[in-house]
Amino acid sequence: MFYPQELIDQVQQNNDIVDVINEYIPLTKKGSNYVCLCPFHQDSNPSLMVSRQKQLFKCFACGEGGNVITFLQKYDSKTFVESVQTLADRAGIKLPENYSGEYSKEKQDHKLRLIECNTEAARFFYAYLRREEGKKGFDYFKKRELSDETMKKFGLGYSDINGNCIAYLKKQGFTDKEILDSGLGTYDERNGLRSKFWNRVMFPIKNQAGKVIGFGGRVLGDGEPKYLNSPETTIFNKSTNLYAFDLAKASRSSYFILCEGYMDVIALHQAGFNMAVASLGTAFTPGQANIIRRYVKDVYLSYDSDGPGVKAAIRAAKICREFNLSCKVIDMSPYKDPDEFIKALGKEEYQKRIDEAKNAFIFEIGILRKQYDPSDPDANTRYDNEVAALLAEMKDEVQRTNYIKACAKEMGISTQALSDMVAKEAGKNRKFNEPERLRSGIHEKKDDPNIKAQQLMLTYLAEYPSIYPQIENIVTPDDFTDETYKEVAVKFFEDVKNGIASPARMVSMFEDEEIQNKVSDMFTSYLNGIEGREEKEAALVDIIFRLKSNSLDEMKNGGKSVDPTLFMKKKKELMEIRSIKIKLPE
Ligand code: UTP
Ligand code: MN
Repeated sequence: MFYPQELIDQVQQNNDIVDVINEYIPLTKKGSNYVCLCPFHQDSNPSLMVSRQKQLFKCFACGEGGNVITFLQKYDSKTFVESVQTLADRAGIKLPENYSGEYSKEKQDHKLRLIECNTEAARFFYAYLRREEGKKGFDYFKKRELSDETMKKFGLGYSDINGNCIAYLKKQGFTDKEILDSGLGTYDERNGLRSKFWNRVMFPIKNQAGKVIGFGGRVLGDGEPKYLNSPETTIFNKSTNLYAFDLAKASRSSYFILCEGYMDVIALHQAGFNMAVASLGTAFTPGQANIIRRYVKDVYLSYDSDGPGVKAAIRAAKICREFNLSCKVIDMSPYKDPDEFIKALGKEEYQKRIDEAKNAFIFEIGILRKQYDPSDPDANTRYDNEVAALLAEMKDEVQRTNYIKACAKEMGISTQALSDMVAKEAGKNRKFNEPERLRSGIHEKKDDPNIKAQQLMLTYLAEYPSIYPQIENIVTPDDFTDETYKEVAVKFFEDVKNGIASPARMVSMFEDEEIQNKVSDMFTSYLNGIEGREEKEAALVDIIFRLKSNSLDEMKNGGKSVDPTLFMKKKKELMEIRSIKIKLPE
């Protein structure tokens, strides 16, 4: 069900974000804003800022941000519609029961249908496991020592050889297109629409809000592939979801255990380690690290103890470090994976291994050490250099310094000697390598001064909408080079012009949580250090200059042919910007 924008606006206007958040977490006034401990990560200093003027919240530590509706979505794991309903209730606004006006959110509607379709399928598989026809699956889980309670907790199911979940879904009113788009069906000319999962035990995969978005299906016994997973769909993004994340989040543990497999997670939860999660049939991704870091600072890797497992662990650890997650490796030997370890030695032994877990980087250089002959001085030099090269990849200076100290101790050389070697390695690449996160497209460009200028421009406009007439002939949405920024600028400029500027409204333009955070960033950049009005006015001119000069650069480098007269005209305009004066309101 979707509501018209005016109704959503009305709901937001009648639920002041400061009052609403204050009902969940006590807020303290700080300057013109409010602050509190951020509920989205382990916060020790109040890092969550709430602005009454902008009707936005933003955590300056973990990056979580949004408007009053997204706050409820994130805090209470509610859907968009549920949040709107809660807030409407709070404000005494009556919502239409079956709103059937024009859908501006057709896409969202379709997504909700796909989630419903997956949820229905999960119900079907779950019920099937408990029927006579599903006994094979039930026996399989029993053989793997899962309790009834565990099977229930994870909603485990069975997909029959006849694959008749399709018939069931159709009976529930889902169209062929919906079944296909949900990832549950496959289509070919000869057989028509059929179930993707045949004769497999089924592991429903849920998103952060606990909604079913896909499945992993395991063959009974041997067979290829061992695990078949739902394809990526509009609701199932494998790189930004984790198996059992909703449960791990609810555990309120100060750390997560990261595993490779669904069965590992389940075995760990059954043994009481309910902070275990796993990636989804693919390697661990920066997007997953980015989500984890909002909740915990420590990650324990519980990967397979074989060669590929060790390699995967080292890769995952590197990604964790780039997100400043402290990462340790749990030694599972002599067993293959946590599932087998727990079965053989039990939870107390596993807890001991957690307590003894080694820092992942020290673990990595330990593995490396084994490749060099300790009695050969040349081999030792090569080893030291290789470690130095790894250290040189760390971009965060504090982190690098601390690791140099720890590694020097481990390697039996002086900190200074290792530090010199690292500097030399770094010099080879001219500069310290860009961490993967900057390439991953998540936090990309955040520290780019051109993007920063675009962010500051929007923040200024949000704080002082009355300056619009002074800038409307200078800055246009086309000057915003990042696509999301541009999209927001187009809408926001228009709203400012019409006197209805609302940053909080901009957030609701997007469904993706990461983008909502990004939009909140746009309006809450910290105008720090700029105290007086005149300083702010001067800074604003600098920002506009930077914005325009970047937009001109893009024009030149954009690959499209540029009209030389237009280019010169723009260049001249740019030179004049330095001398403009913008007056901020008293
Ligand atoms: P493993 O092969 O290590 O399986 O794959 P496992 O977790 O020990 O499984 P069991 O104990 O034999 O049942 C680890 C993870 O890799 C993905 C799955 O997510 C699995 O949980 N995987 C593995 C696939 O996606 N497809 C495959 O064919 C195999
Ligand atoms: Mn296993």
